[in-house]
Amino acid sequence: MDIKTICIHGSDWKDPTGYISVPVFQSATFGHPELGQSTGYDYARVQNPTRECTEKVVARLEHGCDCTSYSSGMAVISMVMELFKPGDTILSTDDLYGGSIRLFRFINEKNGLHFRFVDTSDISKAEAALDDTVKAIYIETPTNPMMQVTDISAMADLAHSRGALLIADNTFMSPYFCNPIDFGADIVLHSGTKYLAGHNDTLTGFVVCKDKEIAEKIRFLYKTVGGCLAPWDSWLVTRGIKTLALRMEAAQKNAQTLAEWLAGHPKITQVLYPGLPVFKNKEIHDRQSRGSGAMLSFYTDSHETALRVLKSVRLIRFAESLESLGGVESLITYPATQTHADLTEEERESRGITACLLRLSVGIEDVNDLIADLSQALGE
Ligand SMILES: Cc1ncc(COP(=O)(O)O)c(C=O)c1O
Repeated sequence: MDIKTICIHGSDWKDPTGYISVPVFQSATFGHPELGQSTGYDYARVQNPTRECTEKVVARLEHGCDCTSYSSGMAVISMVMELFKPGDTILSTDDLYGGSIRLFRFINEKNGLHFRFVDTSDISKAEAALDDTVKAIYIETPTNPMMQVTDISAMADLAHSRGALLIADNTFMSPYFCNPIDFGADIVLHSGTKYLAGHNDTLTGFVVCKDKEIAEKIRFLYKTVGGCLAPWDSWLVTRGIKTLALRMEAAQKNAQTLAEWLAGHPKITQVLYPGLPVFKNKEIHDRQSRGSGAMLSFYTDSHETALRVLKSVRLIRFAESLESLGGVESLITYPATQTHADLTEEERESRGITACLLRLSVGIEDVNDLIADLSQALGE
């Protein structure tokens, strides 16, 4: 079945009443016919029919054997870390969503896990950082916000050569453009708040597993930790996914046009977008993805220009606490004081998260309106 069809029919929802849209089963618990018998639904922390439909679509979109859904992307990452025990080391991409770094450093390390942050876009650096304490390699590709690309197959081989897992946060690409499991990833994570839900109206997260053994461990954590997605939010995400293909194509088209326009602008010194020929590791990205996505980062010629853009955009939304991406609305963020505020200034500078860096999540508005907005914000 084509991915566009899976987006619409992937939950296999059918019932005798003829409902086209899966109903919101707003029930915390389910009655039993008699002692020792169950309808298959007992308690909503473990099973809920609305949520199951969402999970089924995402498992199919990501080519996994099972999917579980949670109340946010961070709830997902926190729970996946429960697979490991004190003393285990996770080798992680060094350029990462700031919230993930905060979780690793301030929560997981306190509980005995060790994190080794390396530039996984350079395989030799990842190889050099590997030893027998490493139980997983954790990657984002492209990364948030520096758009660094990691070779998923090479990382999977590296992880598996030491008996470790490869965990990939596929939020930026969405399953529409990339399926890390096809390249050897064992676990794929999503902040479904972003492209999967797609409308900036709900928080959600997903874990998709390649094989049954890990899926069983995750199912145990799912029912034990209890961060599962509520029925109404499940319904919103299922509805969002129905237009995933259309939204991703439209947003990508806009992003390509904007990246080219920005690259030719005198006040922009560099644009980081996989659709540009000069993009670092483009060949690797193109090999493992079906598109360039709709996230891009760019450097302005000065700190003042960056501030001016943030202050002056009208259509493209900016707000001090607004950190999201992947919805129909275009959003701009300033990683240095928003998503990556928890890093030291030295760490930010060494990763390229400077006072001139802006990150743009391109939406599906008319591209000429977006160009006009950025053009006036840049002072033309
Ligand atoms: C790549 C990535 N992973 C995970 C998350 C966390 O997801 P959530 O905000 O749904 O908790 C984010 C949030 O921005 C993200 O960008």
